[in-house]
Amino acid sequence: MFQAVNEYSRDDLWKKIDKEFPEGQLVCEMPSNIAIVKYWGKRDIQLPQNPSLSFTLSEAKTKTAISWQITKNPGDGGIGVDLLYENKKNIQFEERLRTYFSSIRELCPFIDLVDFKIATENTFPHSAGIASSASGFASIAVALMSLFKKFTGIQLSDTEFYEQASRLARLGSGSASRSVFSSFAFWGRHKAMNIGSDEYAMPIDDVDPVFSTMRDAILIVDSSPKEISSSKGHRLMQEHPFAQVRYDQAGKNFEQLYRTLQNGDLESFIQICESEAMTLHALMATASPSYTLMRPNTLEIISRIKSFRKHSGHPVCFTMDAGPNVHLLFPEAVEHEVIGFIESELVPFLENGQWINDRVGSGSREFLSYA
Ligand code: DP6
Repeated sequence: MFQAVNEYSRDDLWKKIDKEFPEGQLVCEMPSNIAIVKYWGKRDIQLPQNPSLSFTLSEAKTKTAISWQITKNPGDGGIGVDLLYENKKNIQFEERLRTYFSSIRELCPFIDLVDFKIATENTFPHSAGIASSASGFASIAVALMSLFKKFTGIQLSDTEFYEQASRLARLGSGSASRSVFSSFAFWGRHKAMNIGSDEYAMPIDDVDPVFSTMRDAILIVDSSPKEISSSKGHRLMQEHPFAQVRYDQAGKNFEQLYRTLQNGDLESFIQICESEAMTLHALMATASPSYTLMRPNTLEIISRIKSFRKHSGHPVCFTMDAGPNVHLLFPEAVEHEVIGFIESELVPFLENGQWINDRVGSGSREFLSYA
């Protein structure tokens, strides 16, 4: 489909945009996701070392407004991007975005034919272990795909649209590839199962209702920016002594979880979910240099979740991203009891008592609008 665009010369495409859509604005809102089987380690151009599997959230989102204006100098090779992050100029993010836009020139042939002003804001604390890069790049990628359709006039099926949006999102941030799908999704080729692609994520549709209605209480232990970014963490996997063992384990966990999602086995889900979270943080602790993102309160919360599960018999479990915060996952049937547990036992260990009452995203959402 992208080859079709090459039928336009750049000059023709510039003239078409200049005539039909010389300026405009669109807003795109996309949620974050939480991985159950983690992506940790990459190769080449943002390709994962193992398949990962996540669900997209409902509440933790990034809203991105993109204004564009036809560029006056289409041949100068520059990329025009101005970025406001949470209403403030952010040079670091702006640079990252400019590099990203240069890297997707082939996929988005209009990228240097218009100048962009981008304003982005989150509904959750920045760099707190809630993947803001996932929702951020997913919202930009979906917006760019929408502009792609508008500017070129090429019709795309929903499957084509989201596959390409996921590919674009992945090039910005690996985990963002999964956020373009509204519920369970996986990213990465699983050779033995003969499914998936390293280049883009795919949705998982036939998920047992106990999982498709799952709740996620995001417990904010510390919202300050991380000392070590995920990108650095991925790089440390290149020389990591346990790397190969980890990639093999992730493949096995992925296969088991994929089946578990269909058969509704909560016990198996809990076992894989917690093992993946602890493995991620163990990989950080055993990297060189070694580092730890968990805080004392993270460990206290984990211990309380385990003992609540043991004593109440409720199927609750935890996971974590690359940060100190804890995602407490549970089926909606025990929501009342679990919220009581959070309020009475966990809130004292949270930063300003803060937690986000989130859940698996649902299939229907209005996320894109043109001004
Ligand atoms: C621990 O997607 O943030 O959240 O590709 O370098 O942007 P980059 O990394 P990123 O890594 C996320 C890692 C993780 C696990 C996961 O979401 O699968």
